[in-house]
Amino acid sequence: MAEASGHEVKIIGLNLEVDDQAKWHSTHAETDLTAPNAEKSETLTLVPKNAKHVLDVGTGTGQWAIDYAKAHPNAQVLDTDLSAIQPKENVPPNCNFKVHNTETEWEFEHKFDSILGRMLLMGIHDWPAFFVKPWDNLKPGGWLEVVNPEFPVGCDNESAGPDTPIMRWSRGIREATSIDGIDTLIVRKMRSTIEEQGFLNIREERFKWATGPWPKGEKEKEIGHWMLPNLTVFMAPSAMGLITKKLNWPKEDVKDLVKEALDDLEDTNRHY
Ligand SMILES: C[S@@+](CC[C@H](N)C(=O)[O-])C[C@H]1O[C@@H](n2cnc3c(N)ncnc32)[C@H](O)[C@@H]1O
Repeated sequence: MAEASGHEVKIIGLNLEVDDQAKWHSTHAETDLTAPNAEKSETLTLVPKNAKHVLDVGTGTGQWAIDYAKAHPNAQVLDTDLSAIQPKENVPPNCNFKVHNTETEWEFEHKFDSILGRMLLMGIHDWPAFFVKPWDNLKPGGWLEVVNPEFPVGCDNESAGPDTPIMRWSRGIREATSIDGIDTLIVRKMRSTIEEQGFLNIREERFKWATGPWPKGEKEKEIGHWMLPNLTVFMAPSAMGLITKKLNWPKEDVKDLVKEALDDLEDTNRHY
């Protein structure tokens, strides 16, 4: 799987981002968005079997890290995040959390067999600079895995034109975050960015991540089922926090947009 000459990497693209810290985490803690679509288990298979050192960047609730550490008592799992929101109890001794901004210097005690960065879209301003860090901090042949959505959201059928409330809201989020240098479509350039850093054996997987119960496939339906409450919770704070503040849209207009967008989400004919 891994070669001494370089690092391997897996990129997974999703079509939706949900990231409003407090709100998102509160929902995420209950549902673990990635579990239903098997990302969790896929991730586990990517970590080399005998990995001694694993790093989970932007760990969030730390759930992946806790599960992984429990399943692999011989591995040391370090989990970083801007916020110390991870649990203090029932954490296995081989799982350690550290407050760290991943965009600053990485000064860890050792190199890693595997580094994971899931759903960091809204937290990374300079992806080429970010990829230097895992490159320098992976053991030869180590694995990097990044999972990112893209934003604005898409529509799987032709039921939603560019001016539906959801489309307007999600375009607003893209525009607002771009003011701070976030590229919410970066996933489209992720592969070449990673290649330029020198990583080898890059695998890219793209898949749709539904919101709502419309998909036919069992797995996709389950994702849609979990995504609906997540996006519902994310809608108002993201709009008020980003669209009003960064784009200076009047608050009342944004409130109306949120209301319309929430109704729009309930419309099962629209395949967001
Ligand atoms: C959407 S959550 C994803 C959490 C987790 N990786 C998962 O997939 O469940 C994004 C997390 O990345 C963290 N984050 C964002 N930017 C970061 C940065 N520059 N350094 C460290 N953590 C960051 C946030 O605090 C948040 O907990």
